[in-house]
Amino acid sequence: MSSKDTHTREPFPANAPAVVTCGLPYANGDLHIGHLRTYVGGDVYARALESLGQETAFVCGSDMHGTPVAVNAEKEGTSPEEFALAWHAQYEETFPRFDVDFDNYGHTHDATNTETTQEFVRTLEENDHVYEKEIKVAYDPEAEQSLPDRYVEGTCPYCGELARGDECDEGCGRHLEPGEIEEPRSTVTGNPAEYRDQTHKFFRVSEFEEYLSGFLDRLEGTANARNQPRGWLEDGLRDWCITRDMDWGIDYPEIEGEEPTDLVLYVWVDAPIEYVSSTKQYTERVGADEYDWQRAWREDGEIVHVIGRDIIQHHTVFWPAMLRGVDYTEPRAVMASGFMTLDGDGFSTSRNRAVWAREYLDEGFHPDLLRYYLATNGGFQQDVDFSWEKFRDRVNNELVGTVGNFLYRSLLFAHRNFEGTPETEVSDEVTAQIESAVADFEAGVNDYSVRQIGNATVELARFGNEYIQREEPWNLVGEDDEAAAQVIRDCVQIAKAVAVLFEPIAPGTSEELWSQIGEDGSVHDVTTDAALAAPPRDFGAPAELYEKIEDERVEELNAKLESRVAEAATDEDAGETENVEAEADGESAMSDIEPVADDRISFDEFQDLDLRIGEILAAEPIEDSDKLVKLTVDIGVEERQIVAGIKQLHDVDDLPGTKVVIVANLEKAELFGHESNGMLLAAGEDADLLTTHGDSSVGTKIR
Ligand code: 2FM
Ligand code: ZN
Repeated sequence: MSSKDTHTREPFPANAPAVVTCGLPYANGDLHIGHLRTYVGGDVYARALESLGQETAFVCGSDMHGTPVAVNAEKEGTSPEEFALAWHAQYEETFPRFDVDFDNYGHTHDATNTETTQEFVRTLEENDHVYEKEIKVAYDPEAEQSLPDRYVEGTCPYCGELARGDECDEGCGRHLEPGEIEEPRSTVTGNPAEYRDQTHKFFRVSEFEEYLSGFLDRLEGTANARNQPRGWLEDGLRDWCITRDMDWGIDYPEIEGEEPTDLVLYVWVDAPIEYVSSTKQYTERVGADEYDWQRAWREDGEIVHVIGRDIIQHHTVFWPAMLRGVDYTEPRAVMASGFMTLDGDGFSTSRNRAVWAREYLDEGFHPDLLRYYLATNGGFQQDVDFSWEKFRDRVNNELVGTVGNFLYRSLLFAHRNFEGTPETEVSDEVTAQIESAVADFEAGVNDYSVRQIGNATVELARFGNEYIQREEPWNLVGEDDEAAAQVIRDCVQIAKAVAVLFEPIAPGTSEELWSQIGEDGSVHDVTTDAALAAPPRDFGAPAELYEKIEDERVEELNAKLESRVAEAATDEDAGETENVEAEADGESAMSDIEPVADDRISFDEFQDLDLRIGEILAAEPIEDSDKLVKLTVDIGVEERQIVAGIKQLHDVDDLPGTKVVIVANLEKAELFGHESNGMLLAAGEDADLLTTHGDSSVGTKIR
């Protein structure tokens, strides 16, 4: 095994350079706040790594090719290139406005990516990982064109759901190869499509099965990204068609001794390669002494991919196989985010049911508020709902009520009574609190939890409030000035630690806070060590960092959203465009919320269920099953064996110690030959376990 396969897995900060990437947005439509979740997550993560002193490149670019772009360009009557470049320019401008600060933001159609991609493919050819095969491809005889990917829809051969092009986005989520869709229909004319023979190039993904199995054992990141691919691997991998019969894309490179082909590369070949190209462009700009892309991608870099969960397969199977095929560094981690809903329902571009990224800013909201909401509202892999009410509550309670309140009251008191930082040492108690916040922050980075990164600071500010309340420095001034000075010295140190530790989540307000406490230099350049370094002696009067959102404002914003949706609904074309747009944005999967059942049950019927709090004592995976885990659960009165289908989202080793909710009086069942005595409650297809918020003891009945 080469050094590329044997990560030392030393915790961050590691010695080798890191690359953090975000899934490339298709350059085909406006960004809404749902899209921002992954980019904010990636930005928080990259900033947090840098705060630990980790050398990091944060890169991304626009995904210009493929049918998602070609189909939408056609609708607009423009060329795919012009269309994609216009959206690219807009993304380039929008991301920085949210402080999503890529070190390089390129696009897949630029010269660097074209060259890098063609070189990758040539190397794959040279290493005998590519072969030619005649296959059936969908064809529209009326339009006289081939129907790659989103030009065709029909029935998924695996689950029977409606499938669009190269993915079964409404059913099993599988990647579909050309020719696989059953009962194909052309999305160009709506006619049934024919299958015709055509020769294409295939990447031998199947040869990498053993390698990928080891790779998944080593892979870090969110549990969904590490666990879901296991099932695909167990089903056996098929080789992957890497060419398409269309004009828009990167030309298949000329291969020595072969006739040149008219085919272009499948978009999923050149898209992830942009991660490499974008890093290369960064090095070209800053110089290899500052950041060496070759070391990162070809030697021992720490590659972290931040993506939406709909593209886990591409990042944990196809992409690592490609990297292996050209002998590049394998990814260290994949962080896959859950989907986002808006007020409990899907975002819809065509129905104008979205909070647009630029609209959010035009409403005058600070980007940090949304960054905080997106980064900390649930774990990264959980689905997150946005509503203006929820946004208001989190801003008012946590940012204004906890963080802002602590900072303002402490710094104002410090300024008025001491003209800045009192000249004394920080107490042991506060030093320990700050050290513990830094440790939580660092653990958040190593657990790939952006929520924990954010919570570390909020908890520190919560402590700060309790501390100042407990010590009442306002009663000490004039009575015991030394004691007052101690409390305020401690509070200013906490404020400084907040600036340092909150920088990844809230870069704008942390910068303001940094200057409020009289620091010069940039808070963006310091490491977590600065949290305990002494603040400057003098500073002026602070200003409030966060502003409360009033109820009337929420009503106004809701009314705007409703009237926009109503307006779009009366637009004749809305129905017609719905499918194409939802498909192009990959939104359809986001709007799959089941309606609430019509039939009500009585309270007595509910009481028939004996729901209890339990604690998982032991967990072991059931062999031959993708999902099942055998659990021993303590429910207070006894220990139970329960078999649950929860492997998708959860790491079996992490389960012991988790509080769960179980149906204790469900009749016994046998699953895969194991008795199951009760049932665990879990949410959704991925079986996200229900747990308790407080510390109810095992056996507690749920009412
Ligand atoms: O699914 C998508 O939106 C793709 N544009 C993501 C590409 S990510 C990467 F691998 F390039
Ligand atoms: Zn399917």
